[in-house]
Amino acid sequence: MARKVKETDDLPKAKINKTSLKKALRIFEYVGEHKWKLYLGLFFLLLTGGTALLFPMMLGNLIKTIEQKDFTKINEIGIYLIIVLSLQSVFSYFRIYLFVNYTENTLASLRQAVYAHLIALPMSFFVQQRVGDLNSRMSADISQIQDTLTTTIAEFLRQFMLVIGGIILLLYISPKLTLMMLAIVPVVAVAAVVFGRFIRKSSKTVQEKIAASNTVIEETLQGITNVKAFANEFFENARYKKSTQEIIINAIKGGKYRGGFASFIIFCLFGSIVAVIWYGVFLASQNQLLIGDLISFILYSAFVGASFGGIAELYAQIQKAIGSVERVFEILDEKPEDIDITDTHNNTVRVNGNVRFEEVAFTYPSRKEIQVLKNITLNVSKGETIAIVGPSGSGKSTLIGLLLRFYDPEKGILYIDDKDAKNYSLTALRNNMAIVPQDVLLFGGSIKENIAYGKPNATISEIVEAARKANALEFIDIFPEKLETIVGERGVKLSGGQRQRIAIARAVLKDPSILILDEATSSLDSESERVVQEALDKLMVGRTSFVIAHRLSTIRKADKIVVIDKGTVKEIGTHEELMNLDNGMYRSLSNLQTQLL
Ligand SMILES: Nc1ncnc2c1ncn2[C@@H]1O[C@H](COP(=O)(O)OP(=O)(O)O)[C@@H](O)[C@H]1O
Ligand SMILES: [Mg+2]
Repeated sequence: MARKVKETDDLPKAKINKTSLKKALRIFEYVGEHKWKLYLGLFFLLLTGGTALLFPMMLGNLIKTIEQKDFTKINEIGIYLIIVLSLQSVFSYFRIYLFVNYTENTLASLRQAVYAHLIALPMSFFVQQRVGDLNSRMSADISQIQDTLTTTIAEFLRQFMLVIGGIILLLYISPKLTLMMLAIVPVVAVAAVVFGRFIRKSSKTVQEKIAASNTVIEETLQGITNVKAFANEFFENARYKKSTQEIIINAIKGGKYRGGFASFIIFCLFGSIVAVIWYGVFLASQNQLLIGDLISFILYSAFVGASFGGIAELYAQIQKAIGSVERVFEILDEKPEDIDITDTHNNTVRVNGNVRFEEVAFTYPSRKEIQVLKNITLNVSKGETIAIVGPSGSGKSTLIGLLLRFYDPEKGILYIDDKDAKNYSLTALRNNMAIVPQDVLLFGGSIKENIAYGKPNATISEIVEAARKANALEFIDIFPEKLETIVGERGVKLSGGQRQRIAIARAVLKDPSILILDEATSSLDSESERVVQEALDKLMVGRTSFVIAHRLSTIRKADKIVVIDKGTVKEIGTHEELMNLDNGMYRSLSNLQTQLL
């Protein structure tokens, strides 16, 4: 019973009630102009239900021609049957086509809306979510919604029609036989569904046990040095034996259930069929029923029984889908930052780059108990280089986060060119800044595209010039495909220093007023550090630059050095000034580093 594991298998089910239904119906806002396809699809659905219900009746009538010795009708009914079958095929085709069509259109608008919304959400959203988790959950939710919109709802309605229509026709054929049938068949059908679900659960347990025993193998093989060094083969062997034993126990238990299920199906399900046919034949023998009607009756019973069993599973699918819609809307209901997603960076107002933090305090919304920045006052004039030093965890990156307005201060004001940073549009503000971080992420694509990330509409000569200024051209030219070289997961792997220089080229292209280097050279070896530092020095000219650095030797020439400790400004001044402070923190850090060299 190896069932394929689908990503939607483990989705939780939502309760179906008025509020959850109302929320779920919001999905239809995204159907937009394709609504008519849904309605037309529903119309065809109705028609297929109707033709499906006609079919057993006509088959019965065909048989009745023999009983009634009305042989002229044989061909006539045969032709009708073929017509009904053809209509049924045509209707089904359009039903499926229209449902897939409106679903895909709806899902495309939903996906686009969610993505556009997601990337406009503030940083505080992303630090609270595990992003990988978010992505896989979203994809499971969307595919659940997709299945439901394309088939589940349609199937549910169709089965429902077949059950109701089927029962009405059964009653029409023979009320007596119907009552007898309804007394047993639904009970057996429901029991079969419940039993089936129980079996599925037990086979899942077996699968989990198998996975657990595979984990034992994986762990021992990965840690084989440890196993051998500790001479613990006996221990691992016992562990594996125990876990395979559990598989046996559970699998055999599952086998018993499955055997039971088979006996149950044979006896009860076929038994109830036998009972219905037996009673039907009895009625026929009393001339209360024609054999042709009995045939119709049996076919309708099969319809009703199968639909009845199917509805339970469909209902479960709809419950899951409602949960999925709720989760997707949770994201859509998150408040975005005021990003202009249509802004293509063409007409940004340029700031001069005077930056002033005035008594700024900050606490992360996700960690209310710790105030990360306390009363920071800092004045940086246009074009100055300011170095920020301090122990790790002191709040340097947080300060930069405020400058980029990933977060706004809890107290105090950040001024950019004497205007409260909150009065700029986020897009305009960030268009004036560029950051070279410690770890540069390159997107899968060419080097050219990665550099152009700093200015999407850059010309090729601008890109080459930026690469030259970033000292990147020298390594790019060695690749046979040069700027077209593909990087990232499926391309060439670049070294840290090379990636850093691409990030610098991006920044060159962006030509920002405010430049941020957050430990840009910290993870480089001294040879790449030299090349990267040289490119950075060129980049910093004429811009307000915030430089966070571990190696103090790289920031000696800064106009100002700020020492931050536990979220407060401890010292501020030039290298010489700070070195002259008695018991100064900068001085002791600096001395420590020179001693180590
Ligand atoms: N997103 C976050 N949510 C909650 N706390 C954070 C977050 N980022 C950083 N912190 C905490 O804020 C403090 C300062 O961090 P950070 O500014 O990254 O320090 P630095 O860059 O100086 O090493 C640390 O205590 C860190 O744990
Ligand atoms: Mg940091």
